[in-house]
Amino acid sequence: MLEESILNALVEAARSARAQAYAPYSKFAVGAAVLDDTGRIHAGCNVENAAYPQGVCAEATALVHMVMAGGRQVRAVAVVGDAPEPVTPCGGCRQKIREFAADDVPVLIADLHIVRARYTLGELLPASFGPSHLNPV
Ligand code: THU
Repeated sequence: MLEESILNALVEAARSARAQAYAPYSKFAVGAAVLDDTGRIHAGCNVENAAYPQGVCAEATALVHMVMAGGRQVRAVAVVGDAPEPVTPCGGCRQKIREFAADDVPVLIADLHIVRARYTLGELLPASFGPSHLNPV
C-alpha cells in the first residue's frame, strides 16, 4: 500500500509539470507524473505541434522521463487537468502506461485543487494487451 504522502507528492509533481505544458493550439494544459519502483517521481507535460498529430501527451512525456532515468516499473500515476469532467488518460496513454504498470496500479485524476477520481489501470484498460503476450513466462 502506497503512503498518502507519496501520492500527494505525485499529484503535486503532476501539477507543477502542467505549468510547463506547451499547448498553444488546444490551450488544454495537462500534467502527469509516475512513481517508479525505486520511489522516484518522473513528471511530464503535453507538448503540442503545428502538425497536430505529432503532439505528445503529458503521460507519454512522464514515461519517457522515467525510462531515461532508468526506471522500468510504474507503481502509481497522477494526471492533472482543469476541466468540468475529470481528465482521464486518453486511450493511447492507457496503453503506454500498461507497458510499465500492472493492472492494480493506481491512477489518480486530479485538478488544480483536489483528487477527483481514483482508478486502477485495470479499470481504465481492461483485458489489455501487454509485454507478457510477447514474452510469455
Ligand atoms: N492530453 C494529454 O496530455 N493527456 C491526456 O490524457 C488527454 C489529452 C493533451 C493532448 C493535447 O495536447 C491536449 O491535451 C488536448 O487534447
